[in-house]
Amino acid sequence: MAKVEVDINTIPEGKNVIIKWRGKPVFIRHRTQDEIQEARSTDWKTLRDPQPDEDRAKKPDWLVMLGVCTHLGCVPIGEAGDFGGWFCPCHGSHYDISGRIRKGPAPTNLEVPQYEINEADGKLVI
Ligand code: FES
Repeated sequence: MAKVEVDINTIPEGKNVIIKWRGKPVFIRHRTQDEIQEARSTDWKTLRDPQPDEDRAKKPDWLVMLGVCTHLGCVPIGEAGDFGGWFCPCHGSHYDISGRIRKGPAPTNLEVPQYEINEADGKLVI
């Protein structure tokens, strides 16, 4: 499968970028320190799909996820919803700043694909 390389140096803190990968949207967010703090301090064990932020964002500044709602596959909207993350307008699923499902019908968190970040040249390879 073809790999996609993204220069993440160009993405400012607090911004989202959407790229296409294998025909699907991928969300890349350069998180702020406040967002990281919020994502990491959430009591994840109580969530519907319990997952610590540490497992979703190995490098805390960067959150990389498939932009496909786990309910029925719509594309969620960024910087929206009740939890400061993404909102799926199709049936009202709210995801937090770690892409974890917090409210609405989606059964699981937004999927994190396999990727690597090369610190030296600021490239993300997915
Ligand atoms: Fe997103 Fe139904 S497809 S809430």
